[in-house]
Amino acid sequence: MDSVLVIDDERNIRTLVSRVLTQEQIEVHGAGTGKEGLELVDEVSPDVVLLDLRLPDTDGIQVLRELKARYPDTGVIIITAFGQIETAVAAMKSGASDYLEKPFEHLDKLRLAVGRALDEVRARRELSRLHGQEAGKYRADQIIGESRATRQLREMIAQLARSEAHTILIQGESGTGKELVARGLHYESARRAFPFMEVNCAAITDTLFESELFGHEKGAFTDAKATKKGLMELADRGTLFLDEVSEVSPGCQAKLLRCLQERMFKRVGGVRDIKVDVRVIAATNRPLETLVRDGKFREDLYYRLNVIPIVIPPLRERREDIVPLARHFLAEANRTFHKAIKGLTAETERHLLGYAWPGNVRELRNLIERLVILGTAEYLEADQLPGQFVSRVEPTPVVLPERSAKPVSLATVERRYIEAVLEQVHGNKSEAAKLLGITRQTLRKKLAEQPAD
Ligand SMILES: Nc1ncnc2c1ncn2[C@@H]1O[C@H](COP(=O)(O)OP(=O)(O)OP(=O)(O)O)[C@@H](O)[C@H]1O
Ligand SMILES: [Mg+2]
Repeated sequence: MDSVLVIDDERNIRTLVSRVLTQEQIEVHGAGTGKEGLELVDEVSPDVVLLDLRLPDTDGIQVLRELKARYPDTGVIIITAFGQIETAVAAMKSGASDYLEKPFEHLDKLRLAVGRALDEVRARRELSRLHGQEAGKYRADQIIGESRATRQLREMIAQLARSEAHTILIQGESGTGKELVARGLHYESARRAFPFMEVNCAAITDTLFESELFGHEKGAFTDAKATKKGLMELADRGTLFLDEVSEVSPGCQAKLLRCLQERMFKRVGGVRDIKVDVRVIAATNRPLETLVRDGKFREDLYYRLNVIPIVIPPLRERREDIVPLARHFLAEANRTFHKAIKGLTAETERHLLGYAWPGNVRELRNLIERLVILGTAEYLEADQLPGQFVSRVEPTPVVLPERSAKPVSLATVERRYIEAVLEQVHGNKSEAAKLLGITRQTLRKKLAEQPAD
């Protein structure tokens, strides 16, 4: 919930602001002095502060400077007495974003100013977040993995970051790293200086979807008490991430399609076309093509989104990534939890390599974190692994001969099994040896032998 702090010694001003803004679903706090105000700022961290420049204990400008020094992202609206424009202008130079004149005759002005300040704060926070250490977290080289698929993914991100491509669709099972890739695409591109806005299409109702995305004009519907910018507008020159796009309802699909085609939209209840320069990255863990075939997703929208497709394969199809990822997450968890676990044992690695990872990279990350938190030994040992890794009887991957079929020699079975494993790891011999629990030399020797039949 957005929150506002009013610092004003006049009680009726505080009451009035509180009454008006509470109707807008904004949490309002009040303070009568500068000192009390600054204390409350620390306590409730408001998004926007309404500040009277004439306070009983301190100069309002002083409070403003202190506030801005400590919380540069907080929005400040100055309250001045009628006819004190000069002071207001001076305050704007010290970082206030707007001013209001007392008495508040037009309450709409108050609502509007606060709404605008809240929009600004949101955008500014997103900006400072990406300028800060957060941005570094989303560089393409933070996408770990040695498999061909992952190497290609990193190259593709670098290429797309330099391109003008406006629409990108990322498909992949849950936990494969779609969001990581979307953020990587944004923070590697020149768009990084502008906001990355995201919306989870599954978590939002039909009516909300439209106003969240495109904004609304005041009075567009019962709750629309003030004009509000949508994410599309706030993401101008940046990126809009549409997560779980398969969940958009048919009605909203049509509206989304129109907006993508024309790169223009109207706010709900608005008449003016708003033009923006936004890169739209959509993601889905349900196969859109199938949904299109079943008539659950608009075909034209699918083609509009799928201009540049990125498909992230499940982890079980890129096993070369498992060990590098596990080592990466181990190092990360060591740092986070102040541990010094040296690594994984070969046996642990073997178990990780043999597992199917239905939850993909997220499951691997959670597992390693848990092991690090609980771990007391120098290395992550296989016996620390949960049940599904060890107690499970390995399924026999070799089909037993039917009674009627002519049995083959053990050597042949071994040979066929080795070949099947090799195929699974795309011919990578060290990987295959690891999975088989033998050394590379033994594997080479076995491959050199000719089976009897
Ligand atoms: N290649 C990778 N390198 C490093 N970390 C990764 C990689 N892939 C995924 N992760 C991490 O795994 C976790 C899950 O990734 P992410 O949230 O991007 O998945 P997702 O595909 O969006 O999943 P969902 O469909 O469930 O939303 C995150 O913590 C992410 O940082
Ligand atoms: Mg996700």
